[in-house]
Amino acid sequence: MPRISSARVEDPPQPGASDFLVSAPGRVNLIGEHTDYNDGLVLPMAIERQVELRVRRRSDRQVVLRTAREAGEITLDLTTTLQPQAGHWSNYVAGVVAGFQKLGWEIPGFELDVDATLPAGGGLSSSAALEVATATAIETLCGRELPREKKALLCQKAEHQFAGVPCGIMDQFAVTFAEPDHALLLDCQSRAMRHVPLSREVAVLVINSGVKHRLADGEYARRRITCQNAARILGVKSLRQVSLKQWHGMKARLEFPEHERARHVITEHERTLRFVEALERSDWEAAGDLMYGSHESLRDDYEVSCLELDLLVEISRGMDGVYGCRMTGGGFGGCVVALIEPGKTDAIMAEFRTNYLGTTRIDPAMFVTRAVGGPHVEIDPA
Ligand code: GLA
Repeated sequence: MPRISSARVEDPPQPGASDFLVSAPGRVNLIGEHTDYNDGLVLPMAIERQVELRVRRRSDRQVVLRTAREAGEITLDLTTTLQPQAGHWSNYVAGVVAGFQKLGWEIPGFELDVDATLPAGGGLSSSAALEVATATAIETLCGRELPREKKALLCQKAEHQFAGVPCGIMDQFAVTFAEPDHALLLDCQSRAMRHVPLSREVAVLVINSGVKHRLADGEYARRRITCQNAARILGVKSLRQVSLKQWHGMKARLEFPEHERARHVITEHERTLRFVEALERSDWEAAGDLMYGSHESLRDDYEVSCLELDLLVEISRGMDGVYGCRMTGGGFGGCVVALIEPGKTDAIMAEFRTNYLGTTRIDPAMFVTRAVGGPHVEIDPA
């Protein structure tokens, strides 16, 4: 018989840490856009802008969420089945918590204070950063780790099931597997990865158009379906199966919009391969031309750009020290990414600002960034 003590029973010691900070970076995609859900190649890098969580263990089964961007708090009850709340930011956290619960993890209650240096809805994967940071917080609370690929896929599922965005795997993999000073060449079919070094001879400039993108609006999902239809008509599992050479013999079988969308995906795959080769031989002009090619294809064939993104790309053309520029991420707003000469950064930023502000009256936020590593945990901060 166990001895029953009359003393108040304190919480039993828990595995894992109980008070810590977690950060996870956003990402910018250098090239390979709208290719991930077509099993193609992508080349993102993690950036010096991040989501930051302060995590504190609770002794009950409640998760209390607060964000620096909104007043009030949200409570998730871990004893119930978590449900999505239409359009609410807490979905990213709730979806990840639900994913771990489905795996049978015993998650303790905790408080989460969310802050970010990443703009929300700017096409820099603030949602993937929040998902991966939450997953890292749960791992730290539980004192165990999920294999990284499973972790990234769990976060993608949270986005599908709780945020209602049928995204590919790029963002969650980019954040989870990021290495400093490297971009991630990810084959979305085999999930093979290669970290491609980024030379200090070039800098990466990110410029926010100030137009918020809304991937849940349906255009993103529509592109996915059109690509699936194109693959079905061509008799392949995904557009990845069609090489540029084969495309020329097959394209007459497709009409608008399948023809244009497929042409983007198939040529973008080729551009991504050639971009990596250009980086590896330090041919910045060639890399820049491929970025312009990617933008034009996204604008004309894939139709996911917008006037403000096109304007930023036009402003960059012929600017001293700019090799290339393109929209990055899902599109319909958000950011462009430019490959530039590091010594000319200030003049380039000033020229973008003056021209963009002059036409749109929007003062564009912009920053130069190195590639950084993935999620980071700081235990027992002072
Ligand atoms: C969004 C999605 C990604 C990817 C890009 C477009 O960022 O989350 O999975 O499809 O759009 O390349």
